[in-house]
Amino acid sequence: MLQKDVKLDKTCKTWQLEKHIDFLQSFGKERHQYESSMMEFLRMSGMYWGLTALYLINDGNIPKEDEIFEFIKSCEHSCGGYSPAPGHDPHLLYTLSAVQISCLLNRELELPIEKIVSYVSKLQKDDGSFTGDKWGEVDTRYSFCALACLSLLSKLNEIDLAKAIDFIKSCQNFDGGFGSRPGAESHGGLIYCCVGALSIAGRLDLVDADTLGWWLAERQLPSGGLNGRPEKLPDVCYSWWVFSSLNILGRDHWIDKDELKNFILASQDTEGGGFSDRPGDEPDPFHTLFGLAALSLMSYDKILPIDPTYCMPKSVISRLGLKPQILS
Ligand code: FPP
Repeated sequence: MLQKDVKLDKTCKTWQLEKHIDFLQSFGKERHQYESSMMEFLRMSGMYWGLTALYLINDGNIPKEDEIFEFIKSCEHSCGGYSPAPGHDPHLLYTLSAVQISCLLNRELELPIEKIVSYVSKLQKDDGSFTGDKWGEVDTRYSFCALACLSLLSKLNEIDLAKAIDFIKSCQNFDGGFGSRPGAESHGGLIYCCVGALSIAGRLDLVDADTLGWWLAERQLPSGGLNGRPEKLPDVCYSWWVFSSLNILGRDHWIDKDELKNFILASQDTEGGGFSDRPGDEPDPFHTLFGLAALSLMSYDKILPIDPTYCMPKSVISRLGLKPQILS
């Protein structure tokens, strides 16, 4: 069968720490104004990607100006949800990003917690699934968003957790993986969401870790990169979705980490900093976070440790007293 993959240059690219810091600090300023304005519809998540990435490689130092928290407040809606930017509609994904950024800033207690809890819990349906917003699209990624968001606020008991877990279980496939809805094909990103949600709920006993670990390990291609499904090209973001899932399942040693490290390093922009989806493409904050986060899971250089379940610095997760389940 034809295997899609990329060819890496023989010479391994050198680690560009200072350039990555510069890339993340300058995103949204003149240098990236066009990209930044084109990303308005996902700005809240963009801030979470950029600030988390910077935290990891800048010794936990991120800009703490009131401007960031003011931006979060400007995206708050009366229903308790957050939009990606002022004037846009609220959505569960941006609500999670708003909570994550507030936790990074150590200001989560200043959020209107009861309103957020009410917004999230109203998005749960009778079968335990969650919709992303009032328009009703169901997806397991929203199950993760709901569980992550509420647990960060110590409010996991405010939803029907047993039903939320039943719905995730109903999305499990014969290959051990999970899809977006019952019967949908297994997908690396959605496996992270389901395994992550079960890790938060302490219900990894529901996962067939060996079968799923095998499926996840099969995602590594000869270039060392990971894809999200069979027949797809490798992409740096799957270095996170797939590799963090293997970490949660205690099976990270089932892939070749040196080869994965090489693939991620080959996807750096050695001129302007940042990481792209694969070598030679344009860098962006999304792939920069997931490239750095995967390198963190491999204890690369001085990158601070990341929590594989929440994709947030371990120090923040411990400050909040959270202990997501990890299999050994
Ligand atoms: C790939 O999507 C990625 C996913 C499906 C996972 C998305 C995860 C969340 C929204 C939860 C929040 C995540 C964090 C880290 C806090 P895609 O549509 O790009 O898939 P494709 O590669 O098949 O196109």
